[in-house]
Parts: sequence; C-alpha cells; structure tokens
Amino acid sequence: MSHPCFVIIPLFIILQFSVIEFVNGGFSVNLIHKIPASASSLVSKDIPQSPTNAYLGHYLMELNIGTPPVKIYGIADTGSDLTWTSCVPCEGCYKQLNPLFDPTKSSTYSNISCQSDQCLHWLDTGKCSSNNQCDYTYAYASASVTQGILAQDTITFISATGKPVPLQGVAFGCGHNDTGSFNDHEMGIIGLGGGPISLISQIGPSIGGKRFSQCLVPFHTDVSITSKMSFGDGSEVTGDGVVSTPMVIKEDKTPYFVTLNGLSVGSTYLPYDSSSKSVSKGNMFLDSGTPPTILPTKLYEELVDQVKKMIALTPIVDDPELGNQLCYRTSTNVDGPTITAHFEGADVQLNPIQTFISPKDGVLCFGFTNTSSDGGIYGNFAQSNYFIGFDLDRHTVSFKPQDCTKQQ
Ligand SMILES: *[C@@H]1O[C@H](CO)[C@@H](O)[C@H](O)[C@H]1NC(C)=O
Ligand SMILES: *[C@@H]1O[C@H](CO)[C@@H](O)[C@H](O)[C@H]1NC(C)=O
Ligand SMILES: *[C@@H]1O[C@H](CO)[C@@H](O)[C@H](O)[C@H]1NC(C)=O
Repeated sequence: MSHPCFVIIPLFIILQFSVIEFVNGGFSVNLIHKIPASASSLVSKDIPQSPTNAYLGHYLMELNIGTPPVKIYGIADTGSDLTWTSCVPCEGCYKQLNPLFDPTKSSTYSNISCQSDQCLHWLDTGKCSSNNQCDYTYAYASASVTQGILAQDTITFISATGKPVPLQGVAFGCGHNDTGSFNDHEMGIIGLGGGPISLISQIGPSIGGKRFSQCLVPFHTDVSITSKMSFGDGSEVTGDGVVSTPMVIKEDKTPYFVTLNGLSVGSTYLPYDSSSKSVSKGNMFLDSGTPPTILPTKLYEELVDQVKKMIALTPIVDDPELGNQLCYRTSTNVDGPTITAHFEGADVQLNPIQTFISPKDGVLCFGFTNTSSDGGIYGNFAQSNYFIGFDLDRHTVSFKPQDCTKQQ
C-alpha cells in the first residue's frame, strides 16, 4: 500500500544541487547532536525533545535507539506512521554516510513476533516470516520502499534540561532493503502520523498525552542550526497569538486532516472551492515530509494569478529546469504579498520567507504546486517559522508564529 506522503517534486530535486555544494563546504552530521545544556528557564519539566534541522527539502530529526544509545537521523514525517532505520545487514540499500544500526550491539533490542498486535493490527502490511518474525514492506508516495522486520528497542530522548528520557519497547522497522529517493544523510523515516504504530501513538501514554510540537526552521537556514521537536505533556503550543483548528477524523488515521476554507493574497480572498457553497471538511493534511503546499489545480491557478499581480518582477519563462513553476530572478527575497491560509478557526499568515524557495542561486520559486485531486497537502515550507502543536487527544492543530532559528 502507498502512503500519500513524502512527495518530492522536481523543484526540490533541483534544490538539492545548490545545497550540496554548501554542504560539502563544512557540514558534518555531528553538528546536529548538540543539545544546549542551558535551555529556557521556562521549561521546568523533563519534556522529551529531539533536535531537528533542515536538510535538502526534508527535516532530519535525531533519535537515540538501543542500549547503549546510537544516534540516527530520520526524516520527520507527519504523513506516515512507521519509524524505521536501516539495519545491518542492508544489501541493496541506498548509500549512507553514517554506520547503520546494528541490532546485535543493543542489549535491549528484540524482534517483534508476527502474532503480536503490532504486527497484525497496527502495521497493515506485516506478515509472518518462516521463523515467526514480522516481515514488513512500507511504501511511500515518492516510490521509496523500506522492507525489513518489525523490532522493538529503547528510544532515548534528551529533555530540555539535558536529562535522558528513555522509553522502552518502542516498535520500529529494522530496514534490511531500503530503496528510493533518499540522500546519504538520511537514515530512515520518523513516522509522526496519527495511526497506532506511529511514534506519538506509542509513546504518548507514557509521557502525559498523545501530543507533540514542532518548530521547523526555514530552508535557507544554516544546516548547523537546529530546532526541537517536543513530545507529550508540556509540549503544547500556548500563549499570545496561538490559533487552533480542529483535526478532522477520517477512516485513515495517519494524516492530520484539517479544513482550509480558503486563501488570501493580500486582501484578495480565494475560496478553497469556488464552485461549491460549502467546503469539504478535512480537505487538506499537514505533512512535514512534503516540501511544497499542494492545492487543487483551480485554486492553485487563481493563487498564482494573484501572486503574479502583486510582484513587480517578470516571471522566468525560459528555463526548462524550472518547468511550469512560478519563479523569479532575484538576488534578494521576493517582495511578495502576505498569503493567509484560512483554516477553520485559524488564520495563518505566510510571508515570502515561507512561500518562496531558492532552487538555485539567484532564483526564487513559489513553493506551491498543484494536483488533480480535490484534497491538498500543507507542506513543510509553509509550516516553517511556526510553532505547530498536534494534539491527538483534543484533536486540534495549533499555530503560533515563531522565529524557529531562535526557538527558546
Ligand atoms: C531477529 O531476527 C533476525 C532475522 O531473522 C535474526 O537474525 C536475529 O537473531 C533475531 N534477533 C533476536 C534478538 O532475536
Ligand atoms: C529490495 O527492494 C526492491 C524495491 O522494493 C525490490 O525490487 C527487490 O526485489 C528487493 N530485494 C530483496 C532481496 O528483497
Ligand atoms: C497543474 O497546473 C498546470 C498549470 O496551471 C496545468 O497545466 C497542469 O495540468 C496541472 N496539473 C495537474 C496534475 O492538475
């Protein structure tokens, strides 16, 4: 089966080339380990946290697996549930810079039996192997696939005060055949969706509730700058300027569906579906694994028309690499309009820093694209520079504007 997440479109493959040069100039994965010893004094509880940074269109989140703990960096993905990492042996797996997780070196690792609930009910593609292990195959919309065995081990978070927060027996995929559009810094995917096998569904009950919050730094941010994902009690997004929208519960429990009534470009309002009087509930989901925001074609075209009208530059039409995207030649950010996403009960304002992305030097492209489907995806560019809280118990998504490079 295929999960509607983790889509990479050409814009972001192009984006990769320009960033790689910079990355070769000094990035080392070690940079993202650092956890400031003196975090905010506001934080009194031991809230489990994970440093997360922006890398080639995805957000890489640090997770410590096993005993002794080994660091892995997985793509933070609210559009899928299974957390997996490549494990030795991994023949035919994509190339990775860091050593793969070795189950034989962890004293707390165990295989999950195929008769377990996790294999039979939580993971819809689990099946019994000859020796009673749970073999899984998990596929993504981007055509990437991980195949392996379902396992469990201790996952250790580090709290804001620097204390380790170990959580035992977390089910994850030990990938033994992982293929697809991954880069060599990515060691797997962290499934942050709402289904039963997702990380938050599993750990929520032991950390005071099924909720977590993220603050994604904008993509032009230096890769050494991390922000934090926070989990459980104390991770709520609160205070001045918070707006919340209901999560819409559908049969598919993985995606966080919300209702987008429409978008404004400056003061021009564009309804989500101008051909219908009422908007269909849960017409979008938030996906940290998808870079652009994806809209039905009609709304996308109206949006692009309005955005063009409000930008004094001439769009690029002669660069085949850029395809149909709305792009401009400019060395600074575009002096573009504020776009407001009108979610049910929550207006979220986006500035050009959240709506224009540089796929290569001197070019900025509009970070939205289109689909022939009626439903859309609210991608990770548009989620940047907001504290976003996902509360699976209260069924709300909350937003608060925040410079995530200066997250408290
Ligand atoms: C888990 O399963 C693998 C693959 O069959 C096997 O090689 C390994 O010994 C098992 N590990 C444990 C701890 O049972
Ligand atoms: C590994 O995965 C690829 C892609 O899903 C598949 O074509 C191939 O048969 C798999 N190899 C093994 C040994 O299972
Ligand atoms: C996306 O929009 C472009 C330009 O408006 C259009 O040509 C194309 O068919 C659309 N694609 C889909 C999948 O709807």
